Formats: sequence, C-alpha cells, structure tokens
Amino acid sequence: MPAPLVYQSNNKSPQKRKQFVQNMFDSLVPTYDLLNQILSLGSHRKWHRDMVSRIGRIEGSMVLDLCCGTGDISKVLIDRGAKTTSLDFSLEMLKRGLNKGALGAGANIMGDASVLPFKSDCFDAVTIAFGIRNLPDLDSFMREVNRVLRPGGKLIILELVRPDNRLMRAFYSLYLKKLLPIIGGIISGRPLAYKYLAGTISTFVHPLAISEMLLKRGFASVANYPKTFGVATVMVCAKGGV
Ligand SMILES: C[S@@+](CC[C@H](N)C(=O)[O-])C[C@H]1O[C@@H](n2cnc3c(N)ncnc32)[C@H](O)[C@@H]1O
Repeated sequence: MPAPLVYQSNNKSPQKRKQFVQNMFDSLVPTYDLLNQILSLGSHRKWHRDMVSRIGRIEGSMVLDLCCGTGDISKVLIDRGAKTTSLDFSLEMLKRGLNKGALGAGANIMGDASVLPFKSDCFDAVTIAFGIRNLPDLDSFMREVNRVLRPGGKLIILELVRPDNRLMRAFYSLYLKKLLPIIGGIISGRPLAYKYLAGTISTFVHPLAISEMLLKRGFASVANYPKTFGVATVMVCAKGGV
C-alpha cells in the first residue's frame, strides 16, 4: 500500500506547495506513463510532436526541457538532434526517465524550474509540457526562462486548459471532476493526487492571461495554438532582441 499523501492544495506558501508537488510526483512514478496514455486517449504523443516542431530548426540547437518528468519530450528532442538538457525536481521521475532510455543521451539535472542553474543567453529554446500549472511562482519562472534564452530564442509551453466552447467546457469539467480522479485514483492508488491534478486544470489562469504575463516579463511575442477541441494548448513565445 502506498503511504498516504497529505492533500495541501490550499497551501499558500510557495515552498510548501513545491514540496507537496515534488512528493506527489515522486509517488506517482510507477503508473505515471500508463495513466498519461489512458487519460489523454493517446493524444499526448501527437501534442508532444507538435510542440517540438514549433521550435523550428532543431538539429544541433541547445534546448532545455523543464519539468521533464520521465523524459518523453526530451526523447523527441534528442531523436531530432537537439543538444538537450532536462530538468525536474522529482528524482523518481528522472530515474524512471533514465531507466526507460528517454533521458540517457542528454544532461539531466534535478532542480527547480523557477531558479535555473544556467548562465544567461545560453539556450536556443526551452520547452515545458504540463509543468507550468504546477508552479506557484510563475513570475520568477518567466523571468528565469527569459534570462537563459538567447535573443530570439523560443519558449514552447504545452499545457492542459479549459476549452473556450461552452458545451465542450461543460463536458470537460465533468470529466475533470468525476472521471479523471476515479480512473487516476484506481490505477495509481492515489485518488487525492489525481483530484489535485484535475483541480489545477480547473483553476489555472487562462492562456490569454499567461500571454499577457509573458509579454510583461520580456517576451516579444506569444502565439497560442489550441489542440483537440481546446483541452490543450501550445504557446510559442519568442524572446526579443535579435
Ligand atoms: C505533469 S508532469 C509532466 C512531465 C513531462 N513534461 C510530461 O510531459 O510527461 C509535471 C512535472 O513537473 C515537475 N515539476 C513540478 N514543479 C516543478 C518545479 N518547480 N521544478 C521542477 N520540476 C517541477 C514534476 O516533478 C513533474 O515531473
């Protein structure tokens, strides 16, 4: 039986919320990849490929994959010839990524996506898939990513969001409230963790508000590409200064 996970989604301290999220992802590793496959009905692979193709010329470029988890995005990047650095604060996720051969060929770092251990202007692109809605300090995340990108470099965000269409949003909200915690809970044995994850989608800031924040924090342009009836979005954000 897995140890019980304390449910602290209403915790106001960013450090405590990070600790909670880190412990939660450590505990979800055994069934994480399987559940991603089931809960996205296989769509996540298509979204991954779409996200990576938005970088543009990729062979030989320096790419940082933040909140890399078990390394699915990093693997696509490495397979396409990017010099990839992968970062996550869950050691168990990183270990699984190494064991399944997704992370082996790049530099792999255990660290916080909002406090980056890299010098300024050193990456051509930064990717983050299903990570930003877990970050309690979006402001420092955006400033840090902007700092480590070279002028003209791109931040590509893939995230689950609420569809704009009212009918779709009603169906999706039912799915998030009822089905996702039940399926996730049964398979992982962690119903509260999947309830928390569904909650982070229901309460996360709208992509347009994220775009505004990015523009205020030094990005020159942001474009939004909704996916699969608007349940996910790919955001392409370019740093200015070329
Ligand atoms: C939903 S998973 C996504 C993993 C992977 N990108 C994917 O597409 O499957 C979110 C990941 O973000 C990581 N994470 C959350 N907050 C983080 C932070 N502040 N710094 C680094 N990693 C973080 C978690 O440990 C987890 O592996």
